[in-house]
Amino acid sequence: MDYAADQAPHHGNHHGVADLLDLDAEVLQAFIDEVIDWVAPLSGSPRAIVDLGSGTGTWTVALAQHFADATVTAVDVSESMLGRTRIKADERGVGDRVHTVLADLETGLLDIHADMFLAALSLHEVTEKDQVLRDVLTATRPGGIFVVIEMKAPPTFLPEDIGVGRPGLELRIREAVEAARRGVPLHPDWGPRLESAGFESVGERSFEIDPAPPYPESVARYADTYLRRVRPELADTLDADDLDALDGLLADGPHGLRHRNDFVVRGSRTVWVARHPNA
Ligand SMILES: C[S@@+](CC[C@H](N)C(=O)[O-])C[C@H]1O[C@@H](n2cnc3c(N)ncnc32)[C@H](O)[C@@H]1O
Repeated sequence: MDYAADQAPHHGNHHGVADLLDLDAEVLQAFIDEVIDWVAPLSGSPRAIVDLGSGTGTWTVALAQHFADATVTAVDVSESMLGRTRIKADERGVGDRVHTVLADLETGLLDIHADMFLAALSLHEVTEKDQVLRDVLTATRPGGIFVVIEMKAPPTFLPEDIGVGRPGLELRIREAVEAARRGVPLHPDWGPRLESAGFESVGERSFEIDPAPPYPESVARYADTYLRRVRPELADTLDADDLDALDGLLADGPHGLRHRNDFVVRGSRTVWVARHPNA
């Protein structure tokens, strides 16, 4: 995610990103369910699942809940993320089937083998992308699947006219964020790269994220956390009146996010599913 807001190194303080990941999961639960419903019939009955770059364990736990006979291994380079995953897994009653492994995907997948791998919003962050894809292929059992999820468009949270400044502020923020990230594409076209690595393509689907209200109360904090994280990147790219309007959203005034109830959450993500060719 933007977490895209967060191309910072992953070995440092994850607190803000971790909160953002948890808020994202809470507000976008319907999207997670929709993806798992699409992928499950393509996956056979996986007994061993691995979540690569698992963050706070959103997908780890959702997969463990859906596939009740499977063990799910969360792999991340951040021990604090894995700690949050373990707590979440215990809270949701799947702690006995969730394992965590501290590892850097760039240096190989150790001895992990599985019927299903998933990488959500994490694969674009690795440097040696094609090598990591080949490592995943080696680690996938014949016939097993690899699910890759990336953010197609950063999220927006409000109606076009927020009652202050020019309408369309969030779309201009989205464009500025995308422009600022051009050096680190958030949405590589994984289809051809998965095939080059030796996977067979199974499908690619775009998911428009437009959860129906009422939203959980956490939506205001999600919007606030996200916009606060991207604010520093926008100083040189947004016009002064847009920056004023954004600062108004982040302040405790009448237009501030914490006093609003006109949220309209939107975003989009792409999901690729590829299969290890049968031996
Ligand atoms: C944006 S978060 C996504 C987390 C989670 N998959 C989700 O969708 O909620 C990206 C995660 O990938 C992890 N990550 C990035 N590069 C990695 C690497 N080389 N090896 C292992 N984990 C990595 C980060 O620590 C972070 O937790």
